[in-house]
Amino acid sequence: MHIKSPGINAIRWRYKPVLHLLLIMPTVYLLSFLFLGKLGANPVEVITHETGEWGLRILLLSLAVTPAARIFGAGWFVQFRRLIGLYCFFYILMHFSIYLLLDLSLDFGYLLDDIIDRKYITVGFGSFVILFLLAITSPIGIRRRMGQVWTRLHQLVYIAGVLGVLHFLWSTKADDTEPFVYGGILLLLIGYRAVRYLKKRVKSISTSRARPTSEFAKHFSARSESY
Ligand code: HEM
Repeated sequence: MHIKSPGINAIRWRYKPVLHLLLIMPTVYLLSFLFLGKLGANPVEVITHETGEWGLRILLLSLAVTPAARIFGAGWFVQFRRLIGLYCFFYILMHFSIYLLLDLSLDFGYLLDDIIDRKYITVGFGSFVILFLLAITSPIGIRRRMGQVWTRLHQLVYIAGVLGVLHFLWSTKADDTEPFVYGGILLLLIGYRAVRYLKKRVKSISTSRARPTSEFAKHFSARSESY
């Protein structure tokens, strides 16, 4: 299936604002429920959970952009990857800040203890550090300057996803269906990428094996011409 490219102006003026609107919706509903007093007895807990879960959902969405672009033959989807990735970081930054500010009262000593003692915080922090690095290196100018290093660095997004799912799984006290669902989606996305990588490797090995023959053929035909 091929989805026709909508043109640069439609992307800028129509699709991007819609995407912004959709991705900011969870914040709008959380804030409105907070001000209406509809977040229950423990609003901090609800906001921590919601921001964490939205961060993870949006992270998975950002990983699905490239496979979707390939499957639907719509390369222009890829333009939205950076925007979606930055929204993921926005939710995770809120998630982390609420925890640091309201749970730990900005006590960095407690934070360090938690990172060392509680394994779900250890992996959550690992994921946060990766997402932070990806967010600060996301501007186009930095990307150009970093070259291949940028590509390598941004492949860490899969590790951030794995750590994020483990963080969810280990923080869940009762029903762990949801972390397994997210983990399954992540495995599919990693699997898709792994298969593409392997196919590319096999292709490049077979073309490099084929090259001596064709060079020989070229050489041979050049010589035969001169004879
Ligand atoms: C330093 C970084 C982080 C800290 C300190 C942190 C802290 C927390 C805390 C305290 C909870 C609540 C656990 C409970 O119920 O007792 C939580 C849940 C959660 N966090 Fe994080 N987190 C961090 C990073 C992340 C990252 C990077 C992601 C996603 C990529 C994430 C996704 C989640 C999810 C999905 C939940 C469960 C939400 C639910 O139960 O509905 N967190 N986190």
